[in-house]
Amino acid sequence: MSDAIAYERIGDIAVLKAQNPPVNALGQAVRIGLIEGMDRAEADGVRAVLIYGDGSTFFAGADIREFGKTPLEPYLPDVCNRIEAAPMLVVSALHGTALGGGLEVALATHYRVAVPAARVGLPEVLLGVLPGAGGTQRLPRVAGIEAALDIITTGRHVGAAEALELGVIDKLAEGDPREVGLAFVRELLADGAPRRPVSELPAPTPVDFDAIHEQVLRKGRGQISPATAVRAVQAATELPFFEGLACERALFRELMETDQRQGLIHAFFSERAVGKLPELVGVEPRPVSAIGVIGGGTMGAGIATAALLSGLRVALIEMTGEAAEAARGRIEGNLSGARKRGKISDAQYAALMGDALAVSTDYGALADADLVIEAVFESMDVKKEVFARLDAACKPGAVLATNTSYLDVNEIAAATTRPADVIGLHFFSPAHVMRLLEVVVADATAPDVVATGFALGKRLKKISVRAGVCDGFIGNRILATYRTCADHMVLDGASPYQIDKVLTGFGFAMGPFAVADLAGLDIGWATRKRKAATRDPRERVPTYADVLCEEGNFGQKTGAGYYIYEAGRRAGVPNPRVTALIEAERADRGITPRDFSDDEILRRYMAAMVNESARVVGEGIARRPLDVDMTLLFGYGFPRYYGGPLKWADIQGLDGLLADIRRFAEDDPWFWQPAPLLEQLVAEGRQFDDLNKAG
Ligand code: CAA
Repeated sequence: MSDAIAYERIGDIAVLKAQNPPVNALGQAVRIGLIEGMDRAEADGVRAVLIYGDGSTFFAGADIREFGKTPLEPYLPDVCNRIEAAPMLVVSALHGTALGGGLEVALATHYRVAVPAARVGLPEVLLGVLPGAGGTQRLPRVAGIEAALDIITTGRHVGAAEALELGVIDKLAEGDPREVGLAFVRELLADGAPRRPVSELPAPTPVDFDAIHEQVLRKGRGQISPATAVRAVQAATELPFFEGLACERALFRELMETDQRQGLIHAFFSERAVGKLPELVGVEPRPVSAIGVIGGGTMGAGIATAALLSGLRVALIEMTGEAAEAARGRIEGNLSGARKRGKISDAQYAALMGDALAVSTDYGALADADLVIEAVFESMDVKKEVFARLDAACKPGAVLATNTSYLDVNEIAAATTRPADVIGLHFFSPAHVMRLLEVVVADATAPDVVATGFALGKRLKKISVRAGVCDGFIGNRILATYRTCADHMVLDGASPYQIDKVLTGFGFAMGPFAVADLAGLDIGWATRKRKAATRDPRERVPTYADVLCEEGNFGQKTGAGYYIYEAGRRAGVPNPRVTALIEAERADRGITPRDFSDDEILRRYMAAMVNESARVVGEGIARRPLDVDMTLLFGYGFPRYYGGPLKWADIQGLDGLLADIRRFAEDDPWFWQPAPLLEQLVAEGRQFDDLNKAG
């Protein structure tokens, strides 16, 4: 027998226990074990079979590591059919998560019992595929079309109570899954319950699948798996069970071959790998239970909100009593939002706004803070002054963090007598919502301070990425480059609106100009001014956006920027003043505008992004390509189904991208200098992903 499934006979019940840590993924050994277990149970002539999982969970799904490789027998759909076709009663007992193939195995059993904390779901679309072992055929037969479409196209986890209501499970019982399962089997046997194969239940009633397909496709912003899954569910209503199963399998195989599947699987594993740094193995983070936040603007209040929601005590410092109260108001607003969305209860809200939060103008309030995050105005002089004060006020061993987006963390650290305790923790606004955290490691930062940064990120449920010190770290440095590329295209003839349209067409939630309006045009204006003194004369920087700012247009917050925003409407309409300013600037510079095809816009924009990403990895600012990928995915709206810019680049082919860059360099050799790492990978016939594997 395969070791992955343990067989035990208890009277006339056979018990199959999955033992494939950590999550009992349904790899080949488990599938073989299930078939062998069913065969043996049948040979033993038992009256019933119980299937459950050892450790923390039932089967959490197919083994994702097998995806993209040659499929290995026995295939999961056949395992499920074997289980369902057994002549005796088959029951599953669920705990932890029964996801994907795990729920499909459970649906192949005749009855299902779950502990109340269990969750079920079919998250395959989130990995770029669809339930390929009968999920799209069996779930609609037990839960109805509407619920099945919702669960399958969103991939959401469904709590046990809801699953019971939907008929996905038959009974809830508190306790150990083995005991709960055995008790249920005995109850069913005593009642003389019949076998109940889901495949023999009547086919569900059809709905308007074309309309739903359309709706799901639109919602997916270019992601194809949820819409394809709709067609598989449709088959459940139109075809006999086993034909429906074949249709599901064909669609599953089609999706398995897509780039999107590669991108989404890359995202799944990278999301988990990004916080695992070899240098931190065995390094204990410093304990953190109270934090300080300096500055209570949108960013500071967002950081304080995230910290409060994770159970930390927060002392927030502002310059005046009025500003401190305004900060309290912002936090209150954020937490009320969380309460309204059901994330916290009324009692939790009251506790968080009461004892857990203190606002003050006195740095003395930071005396017991384990970690302090500065989120004040982005000016080196101001930051240095704050850090000198923190150095004086904070206890020894406290971690001193700056939330700067661009500034040199080494210089900030030098303003203290304890640079080993100083680190960058770069949050993204709104900090209680956005998942990305750049952990910026300066020259003198101590390893346990880095570990503390990652531990805090985990506690705040962030995706933490290690970054080295440079202007803009990983994300904003890459952003500055692809944004510059967009500016060049505008000078040469493209419109900001065409560029935004191309990029939303690619899958970004917003284009770069709409994003700039949201962030505030004053930010880019300040950056351009800051960089002006050291700028190389070969750099092409348009000035029309400066005029826009001088005229008081800072984007959404002032009602106009690249777009004009009418009250009550989130989306803006193109601002004719922008078009006029661009035309005037082209005329001043003697540029004859040319047409850009959508394809050229995309190629240039992505080439700029990939090239700068390659520099960031080549210089060690990001440790691995996957660190860049996760930064762009979680902080910059890069479509998850491409896996990130460097995974996307691997899929497109690096030689083609390098050839594009060399061609673009013929007109602007200053901007389009190929990154040495990109040249090296092409020369060696390797990919960015090879560097991820190298660790
Ligand atoms: N296959 C292979 N490895 C898996 C896995 C899977 N299905 N699910 C989790 N793992 C691995 C993780 O990569 C991680 O490995 P490392 O420790 O080496 O990083 C380890 O198991 C623990 O996982 P998490 O860190 O995510 O643990 P968690 O407790 O936070 O979450 C979980 C557990 C909810 C099960 C989460 O891992 C998860 O959502 N897994 C994916 C579930 C899924 O999508 N299943 C469907 C698979 S597709 C399918 O089944 C297709 C089909 O129809 C045939």
